Amino acid sequence: MKVLIVGGGGREHAIATSMKKSKRVDKIYCVPGNAGIAQIAECEPSIGVMEFDKIAAYAKEKTVDLVFVAPDDPLVGGLVDVLRAEGLRVFGPDKKAAILEGSKAFSKDLMKKYNIPTAAYETFDDPEKALEYLETAEMPIVLKADGLALGKGVLICNTLEEAKAGVKEIMLDKHFGNAGNRMVIEEFMTGREVSVLSYVDGKTIKPMTSAQDHKRAQDGDRGLNTGGMGTFSPSPFYTEEVDEFCKKYIYQATVDAMAAEGREFKGIIFFGLMLTSKGPRVLEYNARFGDPEAQVVLCRMKNDIMDVVDACIDGTLDQLELEFEDNAAVCVVLASDGYPVSYQKGFEIKGLEKFEGKDDYYCFHAGSKFDDRHRIVTNGGRVLGITAKGETLKEARKKAYEATEWVSFENKYMRHDIGKAIDEA
Ligand code: AMP
Ligand code: GLY
Repeated sequence: MKVLIVGGGGREHAIATSMKKSKRVDKIYCVPGNAGIAQIAECEPSIGVMEFDKIAAYAKEKTVDLVFVAPDDPLVGGLVDVLRAEGLRVFGPDKKAAILEGSKAFSKDLMKKYNIPTAAYETFDDPEKALEYLETAEMPIVLKADGLALGKGVLICNTLEEAKAGVKEIMLDKHFGNAGNRMVIEEFMTGREVSVLSYVDGKTIKPMTSAQDHKRAQDGDRGLNTGGMGTFSPSPFYTEEVDEFCKKYIYQATVDAMAAEGREFKGIIFFGLMLTSKGPRVLEYNARFGDPEAQVVLCRMKNDIMDVVDACIDGTLDQLELEFEDNAAVCVVLASDGYPVSYQKGFEIKGLEKFEGKDDYYCFHAGSKFDDRHRIVTNGGRVLGITAKGETLKEARKKAYEATEWVSFENKYMRHDIGKAIDEA
């Protein structure tokens, strides 16, 4: 098979790495890709993920058998529909289904209608009404821009003043652009966060092993929200009891709800869960692999990824058994100092060869490229996802942090407490 991956970050490098392992894949293409993905795939850096016509033309020119759409923006924007209309075989939800991630108001209404446990909320189109509502609301409170906002459209407000300023930021100043035309105001929940990714074929859902992200920029969960500074898998807090609850009230219920709405979902559903004292609650849905969750989950999957992808597209997931290794993985993101606000890029990355031939260690590229002297240089806020597997989470963490020392670039920055919470488990 020839496969095209759409995307160019650490998640896409992890997906490409799994495909490379597949006996059924002969050739991988990637748009735009990056310098790490280029080691195992043919990349076309000049095509962006929102250039739907160019992607379709490229897929046809390379006569690929399958296109795997990985990032949220093209999924929500309807790339899957465009490619299908061109006769291509595609993995990912169509536009109608990707709204599960594309609109927080949609996903909250869906959960309410189908009794899927989540935080209480109200939706607003009118900033005046939102401000009025806040006057009698309990603090802290959570404000969410309705649309996609690079994972940054959520504000947790401790006081009425902060909340009012947040409404202004989202709905009037349009800090997150059109994503803020509508807003969800939601009850603040406390508890541990866990992510569960799952494969879905429209009817059947198969959850993968659990994972946990670290969204804040600095140690101790301080600093600004980022795309994710590191992950570990599995989460020791995702117990059998939690799993049972989620299987009963959340996973299949979500898939059935989407089908009942005429929005059959095929692809990946990412459940962001909060384990509250009253039981698990859905924080959010994503319609794709998380980044950097994919990095710690996919490397532990025993199945051939192409078998699972085919089952999702063909509606035969019920006949497939998902299997994960009985071990653990940790991913530590090496970022550019200053991320997520402002940072320099273009620094040479040294030491990458140290990963060659080492089992259990992965250096997933998130933001890298070749410069005009063909050196690999930094090209983003998140640069590399240093990942290691171990028999236990502690061992995986030790190995991942060791491997972070193998590579260097000028403004290298990382958190030092990825997976530290496991000590409390
Ligand atoms: P989301 O993009 O919806 O996952 O929100 C980003 C982050 O905001 C989550 O990972 C949580 O840490 C936090 N968050 C979102 N909703 C709530 C809530 N209702 N209560 C507490 N924290 C929340
Ligand atoms: N790591 C969180 C996300 O991919 O949305």
